[in-house]
Amino acid sequence: MSNVLRLAIVDPTDATREALKGMLLGMDTVWLEAECSRYEFFADVVEQTTPDVGVVALDANPEKAITLLQQLSGSESRCVLLAASQSTDGPLILKAMRAGAKEFLTLPIPVEELSSALDRIAAQRFGGSDAKSRACELIAVAGATGGVGSTSVAVNLGSLLASEAGTSVALVDLDLALGDADVFLDAIPDYTLADVTQNISRLDIQLLRKSLTKHSSGLYLLPRPVDLQDMSLITEDSLRRVIALLKASFSHLIVDLSKSYSTIDLEVLNEADHLVLVTQLDLPCLRNVVRLMMSFEEIEGLRDKTRIVVNRAGLDTGGISLKKAKETIGRDIFAQLPNDYRTMVEVRNNGVPLMTQAPKAGITNAFRDLLKKLVGDIGGATAMGDEQTQQEDTRGVWQKFWPVGQKK
Ligand SMILES: Nc1ncnc2c1ncn2[C@@H]1O[C@H](COP(=O)(O)OP(=O)(O)OP(=O)(O)O)[C@@H](O)[C@H]1O
Ligand SMILES: [Mg+2]
Repeated sequence: MSNVLRLAIVDPTDATREALKGMLLGMDTVWLEAECSRYEFFADVVEQTTPDVGVVALDANPEKAITLLQQLSGSESRCVLLAASQSTDGPLILKAMRAGAKEFLTLPIPVEELSSALDRIAAQRFGGSDAKSRACELIAVAGATGGVGSTSVAVNLGSLLASEAGTSVALVDLDLALGDADVFLDAIPDYTLADVTQNISRLDIQLLRKSLTKHSSGLYLLPRPVDLQDMSLITEDSLRRVIALLKASFSHLIVDLSKSYSTIDLEVLNEADHLVLVTQLDLPCLRNVVRLMMSFEEIEGLRDKTRIVVNRAGLDTGGISLKKAKETIGRDIFAQLPNDYRTMVEVRNNGVPLMTQAPKAGITNAFRDLLKKLVGDIGGATAMGDEQTQQEDTRGVWQKFWPVGQKK
């Protein structure tokens, strides 16, 4: 799914821009990251949104458009440039190609032609080592029973990951009735999963991002619906589309699953790269882990991607040792998180993640170790997702240029 091309278009002429946009929005492998109606602002748009492909329509002002192509191709941007025009004038095509356009699209372009041009770019983009670096990693977090610590795990993994350089992380609260990820992050979201689901057919990446609530750690939150009645809006289909859009937009996705293991949860499990199954060392939990692991066999690949994490290790809840737990479950424990009730209650009550409340605590380090084991070394912790913060600061500047996706 992550092999989706993110596009930005510039075309001062509304009619041709809309036509091209309509065609692009109909393609599964393309997300429209940004659109712009002024040549002079497009370089900023590209810098801020880092699309894979920049489409420059030439006809409104060929001279300015060619200068823009030159400017973009001479910049640091890795964006592949496409020129589009109704003209088939040889010298213009030559100029556009010399200015850095990879392909020249003659408008109106048949959808198959546009699609094959984009396929060629995608093959170059994702065929090589890029495929890996662009892939979004989805971590689902589930619990062996209620109150076992799954939201604590989801929120703290999410905030730690979001503070790493070069990541962009979203957390989706799929505990549709009683989810409390927003409380853990002291967030008052404008929009929820229900809003996003309802508007999914007209969402693009920018609008989606704006619908999420950004935490100071850099983590984006998509919370559960406010009204219980709205739970029914979230269907497997709509969720699949939301997840697809999120995967195209973020480097990592963390989903806090409900404890009902519903078809909605299973939809995410199918897509997940890792399932962190949080348990404690007591009999009811371990019994459920065994049951769950048996059921997981029914879903292809799920057993192998399940990582059992023992939370509140050290808390004596019935004398079950780690060794005994391993024997009972019949597989290894992926990681352990120590019991630290005081710190965990503080972070929950204050609505701040561990990395802020207790950056040096043992439990915070245990989360760091778990994260590293899950996603590898991402490049060392930095101060709060520098790249993102910078993007956020300047994003407002170009978004004013064009009203797409502005909050009503
Ligand atoms: N390692 C830990 N040590 C001590 N207390 C913990 C630890 N992890 C979580 N807790 C506490 O356990 C309680 C439940 O945690 P949390 O809400 O994360 O669990 P959950 O599995 O998401 O629950 P629910 O089933 O309600 O969704 C919270 O009060 C939290 O502070
Ligand atoms: Mg929870």
